[in-house]
Amino acid sequence: MRILLPVQASPFAARRECLARVLGNRQALIAAGRARPRTYAANTFPFRAASHFLYLFGLPLPGALGHWDGNDWTLYVPEPEPDSALWHGAEAGFDEIAARVNCPVRPRSALSLGRDVATLPTPDGNDELAALLGRSIRAGHLDDHDVPLAEAMIALRLVHDEAAVTELRAAATATAAAHAAGMKATRPGLRESAVRAAMESEFVARGMTVAYGSIVTVHGEVLHNEHHGNLLGPRDLLLADVGAETAGGWAGDVTRTWPVSGRYSATQRDLYEVVRQGQLDTIAAVRPGVRYRDLHLLAARRLAEGLRALGVLEGDPAELVADGVVYLLFPHGIGHLIGLDVHDMEDLGDRAGYAPGRTRATEFGLRYLRLDRDLVPGMAVTIEPGLYLVPAILDDPELKKRAQGRLRRDKLDAFSDVRGIRIEDDILVTANGAEVLTAAIPKAPADVERAMAG
Ligand code: GLY
Ligand code: MN
Ligand code: MN
Repeated sequence: MRILLPVQASPFAARRECLARVLGNRQALIAAGRARPRTYAANTFPFRAASHFLYLFGLPLPGALGHWDGNDWTLYVPEPEPDSALWHGAEAGFDEIAARVNCPVRPRSALSLGRDVATLPTPDGNDELAALLGRSIRAGHLDDHDVPLAEAMIALRLVHDEAAVTELRAAATATAAAHAAGMKATRPGLRESAVRAAMESEFVARGMTVAYGSIVTVHGEVLHNEHHGNLLGPRDLLLADVGAETAGGWAGDVTRTWPVSGRYSATQRDLYEVVRQGQLDTIAAVRPGVRYRDLHLLAARRLAEGLRALGVLEGDPAELVADGVVYLLFPHGIGHLIGLDVHDMEDLGDRAGYAPGRTRATEFGLRYLRLDRDLVPGMAVTIEPGLYLVPAILDDPELKKRAQGRLRRDKLDAFSDVRGIRIEDDILVTANGAEVLTAAIPKAPADVERAMAG
């Protein structure tokens, strides 16, 4: 069944017009993609339209293609299969779709393409696109010919319009409900999957889904841990990195870390407060003109200072950052763009995240930084510092060498009831500063403990 979303006064025509102005007479084809089979052709993963398509047309229409022919936009939609109504219900007619997207709609069979049509790969369904265009199209790879289209999309999607911000707020609201439910559901003896279920049920109930595979784990030191089978022990911290995706495709991305017992131990609280202060100070520095990489360095500096105050690190905080010592405990980047994708536009590689002339560093501590642009109003980013006790890092002879004795393992051993702590919020850059879209989610220890008590 084609689902028509309750969209507000259509932002899509305005977005298409902006893109068309940049494209001029160069043709472009924007594909929605197809659902990928799970086991056999009729048993598919849930369809998720490509984000560039959703940005311009707003509706998850499998197999649809938006075509800019140099003069006009037309949306080409596959005609329903003869028995489709039997299995999937009546589909919206072309007139109805046209009214919703404010764009002429024609059957896909009527599509005729000129030469040199630019496109962007989709997560799924590139074979069809390749057959239409007569050239190879691969996810994660751009032809030179497609680069101007990619750059134009990036310029548009980097700065969220009002409709996008409304969607990000809706994602934040659902994400807040999920974290409240997770905190309330947590108790010793449950499995991680039970807390995950409590959290994700908030999305299902709202007709939403997850923006990425939920991380709900007592092994928060495994950064993208999607295993949910551990039992919650009374001394464990539970790290929950869970975000909603709205029906329109917009993402929330929030992490909180709470004590299974309902009360942070003294050691858990000490490290948690280092992360929280680091996050608050970093968020306070978000404003237009600030270079995102400098926010990463600021967070690293604050973590180094906090760890030094606890005796875990020794030495000058600036040197602990410059020499990469703090990254033994904070190995990832401070965050990323967020929008229709949780890591927005990462399908285009670093082209979206890195400003022209900037490239990703190769050294440990900076090589996982996904964003290095100067912030502008309307951008949305995450700020997500963390501290992790990762045996593979702490025992790595090369990395140990860089610490030169400045990481006190004996002091760190006192924090044996901590494996990983991350605190993550979604931030909208405003004209003068920043708005924390996910501010409603408890973060101060007393607030988290209260939320857990229900
Ligand atoms: N949830 C993935 C991330 O925080 O980047
Ligand atoms: Mn994130
Ligand atoms: Mn996250």
